[in-house]
Amino acid sequence: MGVIARWREYLPVGPETPELTLGEGDTPLVHAPRLSEQLGLDLYLKVEGANPTGSFKDRGMVVAVAKALEDGARGVVCASTGNTAASAAAYAARAGIEALILHPAGAVAGPKLAQARITGANIVAIDGSFDDSLRACLAVAESGSHVLVNSLNPNRIEGQKTAAFEICEQLGRAPQLLALPYGGGGNTVAYAAGFADARRGLPRIVSAESTQRATTVASAIRISEPVHRNDVEGTGATVVGVGDDELLEAWSELARLEGLFCEPASAAGYAALKRLRLDVDLAVCVLTGNGLKDPALVDAVAPADQALEAAS
Ligand code: F0G
Repeated sequence: MGVIARWREYLPVGPETPELTLGEGDTPLVHAPRLSEQLGLDLYLKVEGANPTGSFKDRGMVVAVAKALEDGARGVVCASTGNTAASAAAYAARAGIEALILHPAGAVAGPKLAQARITGANIVAIDGSFDDSLRACLAVAESGSHVLVNSLNPNRIEGQKTAAFEICEQLGRAPQLLALPYGGGGNTVAYAAGFADARRGLPRIVSAESTQRATTVASAIRISEPVHRNDVEGTGATVVGVGDDELLEAWSELARLEGLFCEPASAAGYAALKRLRLDVDLAVCVLTGNGLKDPALVDAVAPADQALEAAS
């Protein structure tokens, strides 16, 4: 039914807000028996790659684009390492408005750009980093022609809170611990706010950032200056740095031991949990995006096909 219809009373929507949806939300919470045994706790994985464009961004994007429509906007603009772009492009197409996307040239996984291109989004490669792209975007938004749909738009955070509501519903309580990747920090802030709203208990939040923010192999979280750094500190989340080697190891374990193929950045929460070995019984790791979005690194962790030996 979509997150706006499902969680309407918790969201900044009213009778004038268009009923936009691509069927986002209501994603699986999958128990991970082998990883649970390794960690000595009960681990569940929130599979956000099951959202319509393959990442958690859809939860917030549907609210941000619906509100932009309600306000009469003709277009939306975002900077992106790929997932925000794919999501903004899809919801703008559905809403019948323009999506303008600025991205760091050469730094976005091909499938994510393909997702944005097929919708007819207006896509501009910026000669610089994600942080440079975001600055350029803010200037465009300032001029008033497009509504910014990066997570600086509070409607994005509001929509992303719904993942915490679902986890509480799926478990019948809040977990003791929630671990997730930390790029710009919007999702960490959204989960903290969501668990507070849900009133089913407050988990300790582990927010896992790359130790090599500017250069990590996980292109989704290749962000030098997290815009929500102060807000993340305010949530009381434990920020943990994970190296690329740890990240790739965690990523391949998720697939090898549990059959779940997420994108490399999405494994950061589990990588942090492996290192911390905290004394809790019930933990959730958020797998933020689908592995098909960024498959190039599979070569680094898994052998290629073996040629069939010719008989005799
Ligand atoms: N995981 C994935 C798969 C992401 O795409 C992102 C961010 C994050 C985690 C980090 O979330 O920024 O809320 O801390 N992707 C943004 C984008 C930057 O443009 O798609 P955060």
